[in-house]
Amino acid sequence: MRTVNIILKKRDGDILTKEEIAFIVNGYVDGVVPEYQVSAWLMAVFLKGMTPEETVFLTETMLDSGTRVNLDGIPGPFIDKHSTGGVGDKTSLVIAPLLASVGIRVPMTSGRALGHTGGTLDKLESIPGYRTNLSLAEFRRGLAEEGFAMTGQSKDIAPADKLLYALRDVTATVESIPLITASILSKKAAEGADALVFDVKYGSGAFMKEKSQASALAHSLTSVGTALGMKIAALLTDMDEPLGNAVGNFLEVEEALDCLEGNGPADVMEVSLALAANACVLGGKASDVEEGLALCKKALESGLPRKLFLDNATRQGGDVKRLLEMRGNYRSQYAYDLKAERSAYIARIDAYKVGLASVYLGVGRNRVKDAVSPVAGVLLRKKREDWADAGETVMTVYAKDANSLREAMPLLKDAVSYGETKPSRKPLIG
Ligand code: URA
Repeated sequence: MRTVNIILKKRDGDILTKEEIAFIVNGYVDGVVPEYQVSAWLMAVFLKGMTPEETVFLTETMLDSGTRVNLDGIPGPFIDKHSTGGVGDKTSLVIAPLLASVGIRVPMTSGRALGHTGGTLDKLESIPGYRTNLSLAEFRRGLAEEGFAMTGQSKDIAPADKLLYALRDVTATVESIPLITASILSKKAAEGADALVFDVKYGSGAFMKEKSQASALAHSLTSVGTALGMKIAALLTDMDEPLGNAVGNFLEVEEALDCLEGNGPADVMEVSLALAANACVLGGKASDVEEGLALCKKALESGLPRKLFLDNATRQGGDVKRLLEMRGNYRSQYAYDLKAERSAYIARIDAYKVGLASVYLGVGRNRVKDAVSPVAGVLLRKKREDWADAGETVMTVYAKDANSLREAMPLLKDAVSYGETKPSRKPLIG
């Protein structure tokens, strides 16, 4: 087999065999196929696409490039939730203990903030002492005892994805549905879940700006995941405005706790409950989504999900006493209230601009190695459809230092649009 022929075949829009896909991907991992040829092949895939069958082959090859988490001996079902990334999205922190409370185990492998989107690991690590670098034994113990565990991705999981993703990042080939599908599913399949619930976001703060692109990704994740033997549900959710009122690492932990106590913002609750209800159906705990919703609401009322969240925090090294003491007052001293320019309705709070400003504030990072601040963030006091009197606070902004605050403020001011009439309600899901 010659690499150039595989590139040529894809360049001309032909369908590759499993052997051809494995040849190029494994060859790259083994250092035999050079980066320039893999780059050319990625661009050919980007331009010509892949059939669902080719995407299944690619996913399997990437999955087989590393190890799989062994969950033998722990009773299932095992279901994970994956979001394509957003601003203010703390639903993982709500869903994992909620599902655990109804008997679904959640082997959750999460990522860090990058670019304008937040990361679950950074949020969790804002709890003093909380560790997200669990060994396999610790991960298994958490899953067995609390029913969920939260960790970063081990370097042994899908190493082909790590290499290919880094190359895609510098060859303008990230936004390809088959490449994204294989990247996400190879990692998720390796972590031991039998079923996955996807939150595929669209809108300014999402990876996919257009709903049609998000729908195509949801479709691809569902068909390829199903072909790999997993049960899949995929919801499309709006990410044009930040989810909830809090954007920031510790601020979002606080808001997740509010949700677990029944006092969370309506939008975070709606998305969390919808995803959890779908997981209940996949896991055989409910016969339909309605029943799943009722089950999840009842579980929240029992207080068990909140207890499991705090038990998990303790197990993973977190100081729960301090977490609860710090609630409501762990804030940066570099704070600023952004006031309404005039008396008007809030027509839009642009999630992308809030997300970008958050990087300046210290919530997120531009480069993988940058440090983040636990106390930076934005608390939205007003959201789309709310009325604001001139001079009323629209958001309170917390920055890691005075300079970052100065840099972020123009973007945050620009993120808010005002209107004379109340904007119509947009559906959050679907
Ligand atoms: N997230 C992933 O894990 N992979 C992609 O390719 C895109 C988003």
